[in-house]
Amino acid sequence: MPSVDLFTFTRAELTSPVQFCDGRWVVSDYDDVRAVLADPVTYLPDNALTAVTPVAPAALRALVRARFSLPPTLANNGSASHASLRRLVASFFTPARVAAAEPRIRALVLERLGGSDLVRSLAWDLPAIVLMELLGLENVDIPTLKRWSTGSLEFFWGNISRERQLELVDDVGDFHQWLTKRYHARDGELFCALADAGVSAEDAAGLCYFLLIAGQETTTQLLSTALRRALQDRELWARLPEPGVAESFVEDVLRTDTPVVTWRRLTAREVVLSGVRVPAGAELVLLLSGKESDPRHLAFGYGRHFCLGAGLARLEAAVVLRTVAAHEPSLRLVGSTEWLQLLSFRAPKSVMVER
Ligand code: HEM
Repeated sequence: MPSVDLFTFTRAELTSPVQFCDGRWVVSDYDDVRAVLADPVTYLPDNALTAVTPVAPAALRALVRARFSLPPTLANNGSASHASLRRLVASFFTPARVAAAEPRIRALVLERLGGSDLVRSLAWDLPAIVLMELLGLENVDIPTLKRWSTGSLEFFWGNISRERQLELVDDVGDFHQWLTKRYHARDGELFCALADAGVSAEDAAGLCYFLLIAGQETTTQLLSTALRRALQDRELWARLPEPGVAESFVEDVLRTDTPVVTWRRLTAREVVLSGVRVPAGAELVLLLSGKESDPRHLAFGYGRHFCLGAGLARLEAAVVLRTVAAHEPSLRLVGSTEWLQLLSFRAPKSVMVER
């Protein structure tokens, strides 16, 4: 069976609905992926946050020194403690709280019009600012948070060398230590809620490490892809300010060009998927982006671990697109772009424009 590059492959390159590549099993049929996500007993979430490139000894020593750990909390938690931690985090993202953020998102967009790279001007810090406000975390240095979170994504999901691991490992450790400190200081609503619920410092830091990355890097990526794609279609760009157009466009981007292109599970026993026998203990790489011809998608997962930020991500993307298109109808895309290519995350690194 021909192998594909796990960090760059597209659906079109796959020759089988279950394809073995470099020690992992890529599962791409919609019904298989949904069935896997729906069954957390047979398909464990334990490997959701495991480093794709094994951590080399020198980087591992640095993580131990920083007391870094990612105990099972949310995405990587198949145990009974998942439900209550999930409820606690979900209370920060109720539909009412998310809807109330809309005017603030629009105001942030208006302050950020006029840039020549829309990734830097519109997609970069906006989702992080909105997330910090929803979580009640004040006095967060956003450029530092972005350095920590982009570094962490590359460290855990990148195809990287030992040297690159050592370059990134301090950002991983510093981020985790900062979270632990804020938990002990009860500095911010989220940390108070975790401490009041009796969540240990180690669990709180691990949970927040994932939440503060997942809750804004993915939206940065969705905005980057959506802005680029929208600007490739002049007629669409002109219609984006009309009611409902941005929302349905965002849904289409999620369906075919979702930033979280894959997500992982571990088989608890031998299984058969699309007629292919997969052994126990196998790492599955589930393709979440859909087929061109299929209106369904699994961009936010399915079942017990369904993304807690789906509503927020959809709202942010629709408001950003609608507001920029209304104020800058003559924006034009220029130049080419490099892509972020990680096992689970894909997006353009820049969206250069002229007026
Ligand atoms: C375009 C943006 C986003 C995409 C594509 C995305 C995608 C995903 C996916 C695929 C999962 C795994 C689902 C599963 O295992 O079934 C997930 C989980 C999660 N996401 Fe998102 N996400 C996005 C934005 C956000 C935002 C804005 C937040 C913050 C509120 C967030 C918080 C979470 C959390 C907490 C989980 C773990 C839930 C659990 O295990 O119970 N995500 N997301």
